[in-house]
Amino acid sequence: MIQEVSGTKKLWGSITLPPDKSISHRAAMFAAIAEGESVIRNYSDAADPQSTLSCLRQLGVAVEQKNSTVTIQGAGRTGLQKPDADLDCGNSGTTMRLMAGILAGAGIESRLVGDHSLSSRTMERIITPLTQMGAVIRGRNGNFAPLEVGRGNGLRGMRYPLPIASAQLKSAVLLAGLFSESDTEVIETVPSRDHTERLLKLPTEAYGTGKIIRSCSSHPLPKQTYRVPGDFSAAAFWLVAGSVHPDAEIVLKGIGLNPSRTAALQILQEMGADIEIDILGEDTTEPTGNVTVRSSQLRAVKLDPSLIPNCIDELPVLMVAMCFAEGRSEIAGAEELRHKETDRLSAMASLLQAAGEKFEEKKDGIIIHGRGNHHPEAASFQSEHDHRIAMAGGVLALMGTGTSRIIDAEATQISYPDFWSDLQQLAS
Ligand code: S3P
Repeated sequence: MIQEVSGTKKLWGSITLPPDKSISHRAAMFAAIAEGESVIRNYSDAADPQSTLSCLRQLGVAVEQKNSTVTIQGAGRTGLQKPDADLDCGNSGTTMRLMAGILAGAGIESRLVGDHSLSSRTMERIITPLTQMGAVIRGRNGNFAPLEVGRGNGLRGMRYPLPIASAQLKSAVLLAGLFSESDTEVIETVPSRDHTERLLKLPTEAYGTGKIIRSCSSHPLPKQTYRVPGDFSAAAFWLVAGSVHPDAEIVLKGIGLNPSRTAALQILQEMGADIEIDILGEDTTEPTGNVTVRSSQLRAVKLDPSLIPNCIDELPVLMVAMCFAEGRSEIAGAEELRHKETDRLSAMASLLQAAGEKFEEKKDGIIIHGRGNHHPEAASFQSEHDHRIAMAGGVLALMGTGTSRIIDAEATQISYPDFWSDLQQLAS
């Protein structure tokens, strides 16, 4: 599908964000291995979290969805059943990596498959530690999906300093650890999103400048009955659009404001964005709030590399913000962007090139020579079938002179199915 987006004179209104993708996945998976019934309200109807639900159904878990409420009858740690067909994770890295941790831990013979993009993403990062724990898990060429999980002979806990700041890797190891008698200790020095430890109430303590998180088979698994907050990563597109557009006021309601996810807020504020945050309190174990963003003139910024894992999904749209700041902005230490749904450094470079922006692509980041308040050229933007690239293109197009085209715009179904209608509503 090709989505046409015209430059708009104003950007006003109020948006309810889609439910958080990371929390939706976890709520469903954790409910499946807990005992008893969990009722998850505001579950995401986007394609990725729906892939998680269909995998759980194939594992014999009773999952019922009525509108946005999902009720799951927990199978407990020992109740998952061997599926009779491949488990299709679609485009979802979180589904594949977290599910692999659970299946390897529980010793469920299964095969995890994904679409073209997911099948080209590295899985070695989870295969190596899970194998060290005694799991039987193999990937194509040792690194890629399909992943084959075998029964194994039970897992051993281990002490694991994270070699990459990745919440998916951290979660895969901790989830496998839930099936071993001895403790698994994950040591994290650069913080990444902490939904897994929060939602499972895993014991966590400070360790040097970082933290240590423990899991083991005697840790009681809490039911997952709560309302999933709005997705901060989806909100980020409007935070940027509202900041850079000269006539904007956007109210974003009920967003998850977990501090391990919101570095983009901090970065935009450092750039001079006019953002008002109204914390509502803790829904689930996650802080939520309403956020209002208004037009501002942004300043260039050099990102602190230790913040990268905290804003990894927001980096594409932060690059758009940098184009509208005055002067030289820099992102370094973000090589992980090359391992997402697409190579997001290269995909963003193509987008910025098409819009006539000035930048230098680096191996692990980008330098952007911001042109301040301006109207980029209308262009054809390739999403490369990546939801976040499509939405970053949409924000650029809103600032453009004429009508831009976003190619393969349906990619937004992965995390934000209503993105294009929300955009039209704000721009009308
Ligand atoms: C996610 C973690 C991040 C993020 C992804 C969702 C999660 O990936 O990019 O969209 O839900 O744990 P990494 O952990 O691989 O950095």
